[in-house]
Amino acid sequence: MIYLYLTILVVAKLSLATDYDYGEVLEKSLLFYEAQRTGYLPLNNRVPWRGDSFVTDQGHDGEDLTGGFFDAGDHVKFGFPLASTITFLAWGMVDAKEGYVKAGQWENGLDCLKWAMDYFIKIHPSPNVLYVQVGNGTEDHQFWGRPEEWTGSNPRLALKATTELPASEVAGEQAAAMAAASMVFRENGDIQYANTLLAHAVQLYIFATTYRGRYSDSFPEIGGFYGSWAYGDELLYAAAWLFRATGKPVFRRDYTRFWTEFGLNYRPTEMSWDQKLPAAQILLAAVDGSPQYTNAAREFCDWYVYSAPRTPLGLVFFSMWGSLRMSANAAYVCLQAANAGINVEVYRTFAKSQIDYILGDTGRSFVVGFGVNPPLNPHHRASSCPDLPAVCDWNAFNSPDANPQTLFGALVGGPDINDVYVDDRADYVGNEVALDYNAAFQSAVAALCEIHC
Ligand SMILES: *[C@@H]1O[C@H](CO)[C@@H](O)[C@H](O)[C@H]1NC(C)=O
Repeated sequence: MIYLYLTILVVAKLSLATDYDYGEVLEKSLLFYEAQRTGYLPLNNRVPWRGDSFVTDQGHDGEDLTGGFFDAGDHVKFGFPLASTITFLAWGMVDAKEGYVKAGQWENGLDCLKWAMDYFIKIHPSPNVLYVQVGNGTEDHQFWGRPEEWTGSNPRLALKATTELPASEVAGEQAAAMAAASMVFRENGDIQYANTLLAHAVQLYIFATTYRGRYSDSFPEIGGFYGSWAYGDELLYAAAWLFRATGKPVFRRDYTRFWTEFGLNYRPTEMSWDQKLPAAQILLAAVDGSPQYTNAAREFCDWYVYSAPRTPLGLVFFSMWGSLRMSANAAYVCLQAANAGINVEVYRTFAKSQIDYILGDTGRSFVVGFGVNPPLNPHHRASSCPDLPAVCDWNAFNSPDANPQTLFGALVGGPDINDVYVDDRADYVGNEVALDYNAAFQSAVAALCEIHC
């Protein structure tokens, strides 16, 4: 009997003479993060249609919780996807600094990271306290208008994780973010700030690992927004980042334990703000290099390159909700796997194909304000508002006109599995923007800029 194994690799490669301007994309993606800032904006704010907002955000004991970033088209500060975002951004700045420098964006990158870190310091006012959310998602989503003109609760709801109400995944992820960022500031010569960040990272790590629990159990209202499945991946990721940032064997001991304790030796099907296992496996392939990690990294990326579902035009496809960020996330971690020496050319080619799909390979751009035929109607309140003093309310949401403000650099949700995308402001599944959408995307673009800029 003859078994015929036939593997057909379809590479939808549309002919293109030149690369995209990855430096311009990097510049604009950083502008997107600037447009998402809240609190008292600095004098060098580059987004003219944004002003101070939510300057009364505070903790249960009156702690100043102003600052940080709006999550998406809305105005809530969700700590979990924010921390995940910042870890990805910091990772790109640690490992693709040359891309930022070539694009002339290193200083803007540092500003973005510092804005995040200043907020992370505020929401961690003592070792075992972490504010994991500011703003009430239900109330927030009933509002349409400028963040500067919020008329709801004041001050806003703040969710406070403690030893009795633990939040292992949020504290673990924020520990990872602060450890990674400490490496960026240390490399930049800001030793004191780097040490401060690292001290917070270690405290958060101890909080996350000692007082264990899912934050969606501590705060059931998170469930409809950013509920989490498990925290083993974040603990692994945090230990890996702390090992990388400090070189201390205690963190190697811990990630080795977590690997077994949480059964993390498997291939996840996605890489997202909640599922960090591929990122942790690939980080460990690079910083530890033991076969269990390099094998896991190879399995994840091989599956994406050769087996994952794709649209007819070649986008690997996982979810209707923000399809492009899922592909960008896979692209980024597989660029990292390539950096660790695994299937270098195959993974780089794969990653570039995914990012180039986003930037225009299908004949249109999915990044606001960039390239050919970019989205004009992202589901994003602030950019849907006309210039002051015109009123901004649900009429702006319902307006048939394009968003009056250009939300430069924002990656929209993206197409369905048949490459169909509609630029419709009401479509928050395919046309919202979010911190986490741009995160690994931006780092992938920086890594591509290292090679192609
Ligand atoms: C959040 O807002 C909704 C709608 O306004 C309200 O019913 C709910 O009580 C609020 N939750 C908290 C915890 O304040």
